[in-house]
Amino acid sequence: MNKLIIRGGIPLSGQVQVSGAKNAVLPILAGALLASGPVIIRNVPHLHDVTTTMELLGQMGVSLTMGEKMSIEVDPTTIKNTFAPYEVVKTMRASILVLGPLLARYGEAEVSLPGGCAIGARPVDMHLSGLAAMGAKINVEQGYIKARVDRLKGARIVMDQVTVTGTENLMMAASLASGTSVIENAAREPEVIDLANFINAMGGRIENAGTDTITIHGVEKLHGCDYTVLPDRIETGTYLVAAAITGGKVLVKYTDPKLLDAVLAKLVEAGALIDIGDDWIELDMEGKKPNSVNIRTAPYPGFPTDMQAQFCALNAIAEGTGSVTETVFENRFMHIQEISRLGANVNLEGNTAIIRGVKNLNGAQVMATDLRASASLILAGLVAKGETVVERIYHIDRGYDHIEEKLAGLGAQIQRVSY
Ligand code: EPZ
Repeated sequence: MNKLIIRGGIPLSGQVQVSGAKNAVLPILAGALLASGPVIIRNVPHLHDVTTTMELLGQMGVSLTMGEKMSIEVDPTTIKNTFAPYEVVKTMRASILVLGPLLARYGEAEVSLPGGCAIGARPVDMHLSGLAAMGAKINVEQGYIKARVDRLKGARIVMDQVTVTGTENLMMAASLASGTSVIENAAREPEVIDLANFINAMGGRIENAGTDTITIHGVEKLHGCDYTVLPDRIETGTYLVAAAITGGKVLVKYTDPKLLDAVLAKLVEAGALIDIGDDWIELDMEGKKPNSVNIRTAPYPGFPTDMQAQFCALNAIAEGTGSVTETVFENRFMHIQEISRLGANVNLEGNTAIIRGVKNLNGAQVMATDLRASASLILAGLVAKGETVVERIYHIDRGYDHIEEKLAGLGAQIQRVSY
C-alpha cells in the first residue's frame, strides 16, 4: 500500500502540464471495439483506469501496443470473446462502456454488472433500456448482463435523466445500427463530444454531440483512425484549486479554458486573478486567502460534480461561509469527515455541506475513499500546517497522472511512501 506525505503551507508556483482526459480516453478505448481496423489513440494519460481498460480489452483478445509519447495502437480485429468479467468490472465501473460497442459490432456481449460504488448506487438501467429500445435482447442473471441482437436498429431514445456514460454507450451502439437514432436529454459533457469526434474520424455519422439532442446515422462499417484525446478539464481544475488554496500563482498548460467556464467563474468569485490563452490558464491568488463560494453541481455546462470535493477543501480555509450542494450523486461527501479531521468546520445538511472557513487547517492522518475525495484531501494537506498523511491513495492513481511529481514541480513538499 502507498501513502502520500505532505508538508503544507507552501504557496505553489510555476507551470504544470495537463494530461489527456480520463473520462474521454475510457469511452474512446471502448469505442475502438467498433472499428474494422487498428486505431491509434494519442495523449493517453498514465492512469490506473487506462491500464484496467487495456487489461479488459486484452483479455478479450484485442491487440494493444504502446506507442511513443503515451499513444496506444488498438487492433480490435484479433478479438476472441465478448466477455467482461466481474473481476475487472468491479474495479472500474466504466467497463460498462464495452457493452454498446460489442453489441453493435458483434451482436453479443456478456458484461458483469458494475458493483456498488462509494459515491452512489450508480445503476446502469438507462444503458440497458436504451439498448433494448434498439432491439437488443437483454437478460441480467448471476450478476451478468447477457445481451444479443442480430443487428441493432435505430431508435429515438429519451433519457430519464442525464447520464454521461449512458449517452456514450448508446451513441456508440447507434453508430453501427441500421437506420438513424436520436438521443434526447443527452449528456453535453466535452468528453461526449470527444467520443463523437473519434467515431466520426472512423467514418461515423454523429450530429450535434454536445447538445441535449444527438442524432446518429448508423453506418455499415467503421474504419481505423488516428485520434488525439482532449485535455482533462478536471485535472486542470484540480491544479487551479491547488494554486488558489495555497495563495500561489500557477500556469496550467496544454489544457482548454473553454472546457471550464463554470469552474473558472467560481475561482474568480473566490478572488483569484485568472488569465487564459488558447491552451493555458494562469491563476494568481496574490498570496491572499480565497473568499468562500457557493457551489451547486449539475450536468455540463453546470458546475461539475467531479470538482465538488476540491471546492469543499477550498471553502474550508476561505474567508466566510460557503455552501456546496451535490445534485448528481447521492453519497459524494465522504471527504467531509476526513477534511474535518484536519480542522475544517463543516455541517452536512442533506445534500448540502455548509463550510465555515477556518484560519488554518492542521495536518493529520486521513484516508482516501474515492478518486476526487482523495484529490480534496491532498489539496487540504497542501495548505494545512504541519504534516498530512493521505492513505489508500490507489484511489488517486486511478484518475491523476503522476500527481505528486506535478505538485512537487510546483514547489509542494509531497512524497509517496510504501507501508
Ligand atoms: C461519469 O460517470 C464520469 N465517469 C464520472 O466521473 C462523473 O462524475 C459522472 O459522469 C457525472 O459527470 C466517466 O465518464 C468514466 P452518470 P457516469 O451516468 O456516467 C444516475 C470521476 O471522478 N444513473 O452521468 O457513471 C447515476 O446513478 C468519475 O472521474 C442512473 O440512475 O455518471 C447518477 O446519479 C466519478 N441510471 C446520475 O445518473 C443509469 O443508467 C449521473 O450519473 C445511469 C446513471
